[in-house]
Amino acid sequence: MDMELSTTTLVLFILLAACGITQSLVVPIAKYSGVPNSDITQALTNAWREACASPTASKIVIPLDLKGPCKAPIELYVDGTIIVPMNPRDVQYVDYFTLSGNGVFDGQGAIAWQQNDCGTNVNCARTPMNFGFNFMKHAVVRIITSKDSKNFNVNELGCQNFTFDGFKVIAPGNSLNTDGIHLGRSNGVRILNTDIAVGDDCISIDDGSVNTHIYNVKCGPGHGISVGSLGKYTTEAPVEGLILKKVTLTNTDNGLRIKSWPSAPGTSPISNLYYEDVTMINIRNPIIIDQEIALGTNNPSKIRIRNVSFKNIRGTSLTKEGVNLICSSVLSCEQVMLCDIDLKFNGALAVAVCRNVRPTIAGRALPFVAAN
Ligand SMILES: *[C@@H]1O[C@H](CO)[C@@H](O)[C@H](O)[C@H]1NC(C)=O
Ligand SMILES: *[C@@H]1O[C@H](CO)[C@@H](O)[C@H](O)[C@H]1NC(C)=O
Repeated sequence: MDMELSTTTLVLFILLAACGITQSLVVPIAKYSGVPNSDITQALTNAWREACASPTASKIVIPLDLKGPCKAPIELYVDGTIIVPMNPRDVQYVDYFTLSGNGVFDGQGAIAWQQNDCGTNVNCARTPMNFGFNFMKHAVVRIITSKDSKNFNVNELGCQNFTFDGFKVIAPGNSLNTDGIHLGRSNGVRILNTDIAVGDDCISIDDGSVNTHIYNVKCGPGHGISVGSLGKYTTEAPVEGLILKKVTLTNTDNGLRIKSWPSAPGTSPISNLYYEDVTMINIRNPIIIDQEIALGTNNPSKIRIRNVSFKNIRGTSLTKEGVNLICSSVLSCEQVMLCDIDLKFNGALAVAVCRNVRPTIAGRALPFVAAN
């Protein structure tokens, strides 16, 4: 999906639902706080009182300019629920930023998902994401929950050394385009101890993602953890270096997927991916390399996939083909390893299907069947 780089201010609206009637009263928090950089508790309490006393629906507006560079590390601590505004702005160019607290950022996406026609309309309206983190270095997002985003929950672009720890994403399994964390052009993103339940990819690792670490993550429902899709544009950068360990996927369409488009001009390679200790529970395609997404084409993907290892992957597949390695016919996948793969379909061992790849097999293995 294309990303929009946007401007400077993230405006957080706290909606006073309890006071909710129709017309709105807007209370700028600045009205109660004369002192910059002070604790806003008192100001917020006063603004809340005024808003709550209002016979019409009301909003408290806390404008925060979240654009860097900043002089020193900065932390934003959020408790309670923040309703994400219609046009949120991204946080960008801030170094040493921490977002923490037990807060929930609620995108209230239900209506947007119903109206989403992006599957059929290329000019569909772009809806906002709960979080856009752009060009940030050394950031941490801790504990925070992202809920019901209208679009991707998190879009990460051009970041370096960015850690999610104890992060949580929730959206219904049938909500459109609600990817959990989407990565692009970022180096050193770590996603740790994070639970993601969404309607699209839990984590999507797009072009230019380098040195990504995923550890102790739960995914489901959703579409799984995906590298790609790549190849649509010649301007894409390579995907290089992913270490994923200790992940449980439950009721997702795909488990671990790597995909690139056929009939597409992009040539940037995908390399050095390592997946270990993954539990699959009722997954349609537990392990899948797919370079022939659009079937019926005789113009294969030009993206080379090299050095990909799957080790100790176990659990249940909803299809007989627990492993699908369907590589490009002009560039076979190289150095693919399958080690200790134990996937069951209806109680029996699942099978592996390979095309244009000769994986190295070690330990427990699935029987191979010919690709059709
Ligand atoms: C990465 O970011 C964290 C959090 O700000 C910081 O403590 C750490 O020093 C950074 N690491 C590097 C290598 O810059
Ligand atoms: C293969 O990828 C793994 C995981 O990123 C990396 O540690 C290893 O050095 C790579 N091997 C080669 C030969 O590039």
